[in-house]
Parts: sequence; structure tokens; C-alpha cells
Amino acid sequence: MDETMSDFHFKLMSFGFKFRDFFKPRKNILEQAGIKPGFHVLDYGCGPGSYLTAAAELVGKSGKIYALDIHPLAIQKVNTIAAKKRLSNVVTINSDCKTWLPDNSIDLVLLYDTFHSLSDPNRVLEELHRILKTGGILSFSDHHMNENEILHAVINGGLFKFFEEGKEIYNFIKEDQ
Ligand SMILES: C[S@@+](CC[C@H](N)C(=O)[O-])C[C@H]1O[C@@H](n2cnc3c(N)ncnc32)[C@H](O)[C@@H]1O
Repeated sequence: MDETMSDFHFKLMSFGFKFRDFFKPRKNILEQAGIKPGFHVLDYGCGPGSYLTAAAELVGKSGKIYALDIHPLAIQKVNTIAAKKRLSNVVTINSDCKTWLPDNSIDLVLLYDTFHSLSDPNRVLEELHRILKTGGILSFSDHHMNENEILHAVINGGLFKFFEEGKEIYNFIKEDQ
């Protein structure tokens, strides 16, 4: 099991995200990821739920958002937002890797600002590959890594290939094995 950050650090990070999200609304990033109505989306390392409301609205009632995080405070926060905003299409998962989702069931994975903190990133990539549908998209960003590091880390295992680049993200497509 990966280590969680302290509650203090999590709260500090969540506070900082309020400013980040005010100046750069997360909806713009989701549009770069190609999110669509009816999509089943996994937000891996969802943190305090910055993407949650926009994602839940964009996929609509026929879609689903699975918000996964290792930190119990993230799960608590996401559940609170979902209840307050009556987002009926949100499911939380408290985990450090395993999603318990069926094979080939997810259209889009958001892996934003989380990869650098994974102790076993390849295990997580294998799990994301397992649950993505054929043609499914892994949308990636991590400001702790440069472009070469990102492309190398995601493509090298042979599970994903580069698909397209947005202003703030890289989209990879699942390689069928
Ligand atoms: C910097 S935050 C990013 C949150 C969100 N993706 C965003 O961009 O607003 C990284 C999140 O990844 C979570 N995390 C770290 N290691 C993890 C792991 N092995 N599995 C799941 N979540 C993890 C942390 O608890 C934290 O909430």
C-alpha cells in the first residue's frame, strides 16, 4: 500500500487547488480530454474533487464518474460534494491501485498530477489498461514531469500509445494486446 500524505498536507493542497481551479477551470481540461455524454470515467487520484462536478455534468445521467483516491479525506470530500450537488452518477473508490471495476468498462481515465507520487506506476498503468475499453483514452498530466519523461513513462510498457496533445494534457490510447 502506498503511503498517504498527512491530513494537514492534504488540506493545504486542497486549499491551493481552489486558486488553481479559479484561474484555470477544470472544465477546460476535461474538454481537452474529449469527455462526452454517457462516458464512464475513472478519475484516478481524484484528490478533493476538482474535476468532479464538471465531469459529472458533462457525462450526464447516462454516464458515470468513478473517483478513486488513496486518501480517506479525498473520498470524504468527494462524497460531500456529490451529496450537496445531488450528483447521482458518482461512485467513490478508496484504493492505492486496484479499482475493482470490470475489464473493458471505462471510456476515459483522468490521471492528473498523480503519477509522480505512485510507488509502483507500472502496476497502476496495468490496472488502467485492464479497465479501459478498446479505443479508451488515458488522459495524463503531471507538472512534476517533462514531456520526455511523460511519453517514456506511459508508452514504454507497450500498454498505451500516444494519441494527441492538448494545451495542458497528453491523451494516450489503449493498445490492444
Ligand atoms: C496532487 S493530487 C491531484 C489531485 C487531482 N488529480 C487534481 O489534479 O486535482 C494527487 C492525489 O493522488 C492521490 N494518490 C497518491 N498516490 C496514490 C495511489 N497510489 N493511488 C491512488 N491515489 C493516490 C493523493 O492522495 C492525492 O489526492
